[in-house]
Amino acid sequence: MNILLFGKGGQVGWELRRSLSVLGSVTALDFDSTEHCGDFSNPAGVADTVRALRPDVIVNAAAHTAVDKAESEAEFARTLNATTPGALAQEAAKLGAWLVHYSTDYVFDGSGSRPWVETDTPAPLSVYGRTKLEGEQLIAEAGAKHLILRTSWVYAARGGNFAKTMLRLAQERERLTVIDDQWGAPTGADLLADVTAHALRHLQQRPQDAGLYHCVAAGETNWNQYAKYVLAQAQKAQIATKIIAKEVAPVPTSAFPTPAVRPHNSRLSTHKLQSTFGLQMPHWQQGVARMLTEIL
Ligand SMILES: NC(=O)c1ccc[n+]([C@@H]2O[C@H](COP(=O)([O-])OP(=O)(O)OC[C@H]3O[C@@H](n4cnc5c(N)ncnc54)[C@H](OP(=O)(O)O)[C@@H]3O)[C@@H](O)[C@H]2O)c1
Repeated sequence: MNILLFGKGGQVGWELRRSLSVLGSVTALDFDSTEHCGDFSNPAGVADTVRALRPDVIVNAAAHTAVDKAESEAEFARTLNATTPGALAQEAAKLGAWLVHYSTDYVFDGSGSRPWVETDTPAPLSVYGRTKLEGEQLIAEAGAKHLILRTSWVYAARGGNFAKTMLRLAQERERLTVIDDQWGAPTGADLLADVTAHALRHLQQRPQDAGLYHCVAAGETNWNQYAKYVLAQAQKAQIATKIIAKEVAPVPTSAFPTPAVRPHNSRLSTHKLQSTFGLQMPHWQQGVARMLTEIL
């Protein structure tokens, strides 16, 4: 199997280079790759890359993920999150190749408290959410065999992440306030990459299972509880901090205004993913504890 991976340097892209490597030969590109265009601001260049390499599977981990910045550069975000994934899907359809793509809980408006299912009506609150939704729609319309995994609150041991920020702040400050009214599941980039590889193998046997799936770790939390969990793990590992877990103060989202509006309810049901692919999603604390063991 020849696999073409875009966005190789991102959280998920990095892990995909590992998980996809057992499925076939992987050509991995980034926005500044020189031999072939991997720059998503250039839809025609990315389409040329697909035509030149003729992969069996295209995996797109590239995206405009700077949620607040997207509010002031909507056209650029749209090119990266919608136009270019749409162009990829058209090339995939012509080739008969698979396209794997990632989307987000931000396609929903965050109302209620029930986990969103794939058939719920999206109503994004932000430019990021709107452009990601348009990307999903362009892929579905192109008629390519595709797998879209909607996920939430992605972290990785490599690079910056929420847990590292909380640890640093707890070492520097006497007081820490973290919002407690946005709910979801922190999901490891490694988990997403592993599920992608399993699903791709499954789809080779059962192409009729193509489509849209929610893919997040099990359980739910809010950012305040997540921060407390991180500090409790740090305490167990005897890392000195000025603040301990129970001292992390809860505040509402309105205490930290941001350019992009975030959904309050980012819970995603993974029932369809688990039953279709025969997978069991691990609890979010399992992945976060593992990541903390790597970084502490
Ligand atoms: N992160 C989350 O919490 C989250 C939540 C839900 C869904 N998702 C989705 O999951 C997928 C993977 O996200 P991630 O967490 O791995 O994000 P990430 O770490 O920000 O990775 C995105 C990658 O796209 C690259 N990129 C930026 N501009 C580009 C361009 N013009 N051309 C080509 N590549 C470009 C980035 O490069 P630079 O780093 O050099 O800019 C980065 O390598 C995305 O589809 C995202 O929308 C993420």
